[in-house]
Amino acid sequence: MTTDTPKPRIEVEHVQKRFGTVEALSDVTLTLEENEVLGLVGDNGAGKSTFIKTLVGIHQPDGGEIRFEGEPVTIEGPKHARKLGIGTVYQDLALVDELSVAENLFLGRMPVKKLGGVLPIVDREYMAAEAERILSEHLNIHVDPDTPVEYLSGGERQAVAIGRALVTDPDIVLLDEPTSALSKAAVDHVEELVEQLRESGHSVILIDHNLEEVLSMTDRIAVLFQGRIVDVVDSENITRDDVVSMMVSGHSLQDDDSEPDSGDTVSRKSESSSSSSSTA
Ligand SMILES: Nc1ncnc2c1ncn2[C@@H]1O[C@H](COP(=O)(O)OP(=O)(O)OP(=O)(O)O)[C@@H](O)[C@H]1O
Ligand SMILES: [Mg+2]
Repeated sequence: MTTDTPKPRIEVEHVQKRFGTVEALSDVTLTLEENEVLGLVGDNGAGKSTFIKTLVGIHQPDGGEIRFEGEPVTIEGPKHARKLGIGTVYQDLALVDELSVAENLFLGRMPVKKLGGVLPIVDREYMAAEAERILSEHLNIHVDPDTPVEYLSGGERQAVAIGRALVTDPDIVLLDEPTSALSKAAVDHVEELVEQLRESGHSVILIDHNLEEVLSMTDRIAVLFQGRIVDVVDSENITRDDVVSMMVSGHSLQDDDSEPDSGDTVSRKSESSSSSSSTA
């Protein structure tokens, strides 16, 4: 249904990323459309986090191209990614333990006010109020914004990391296992948040080992296996078992009648460039 909306937000074409002898991303071609939630699944080490980190410039690709709203870009790092409207929740959460909830939310972009109209100082009242608002409005989490995050529970830390991705009001939100430490109730809030984001025109990439969550939250699912895309499927037309089968075998369901070890990168119906693409 939502297979090909007009203008992709991000297009990744033939992207490679190697770490020594490990091919973490191998000829990855994938688009993120406007107003879609794209799931990214795969076994441990499949390359999911590497993909996210390549999109925000923590890693530079060894080959291939990334286009942002149609234009080729070199994303220099997370700051640049944020400027482009990308907000990210990293798998390791990347919080600074000694800093408060509010300081973590605004890390690297603290709001400033002028004392006496001249002397610039960090606007702590605004930070605290915004931190409280973002966490309670979007995630229904109520923590004191002045508490150092080292004292928070795992779920609260995860909420702070999600809040942190939302502070800059991004158009694109990348979520690398945002719910792994969350209670069922908190997962429901993240589901609502993702739905809210989609409804308000955002694009989301969701990495999640819980396939039920992925199936219910996403429009499409990209399956990664040892650094390559096995297939991209519509979430509506796929079962959990079929996703698992692709994750563990590395073969698309449509590969059944081809030779088992072809290793081709497949981009099908949901990729607009499908007919012309194959391995480089
Ligand atoms: N900075 C790095 N240096 C060396 N190897 C790396 C680095 N980052 C990732 N790798 C390797 O690249 C491969 C892909 O790792 P990645 O973290 O992307 O997997 P993942 O799909 O996110 O797995 P998980 O589900 O466990 O989070 C792994 O073999 C990993 O060891
Ligand atoms: Mg990962």
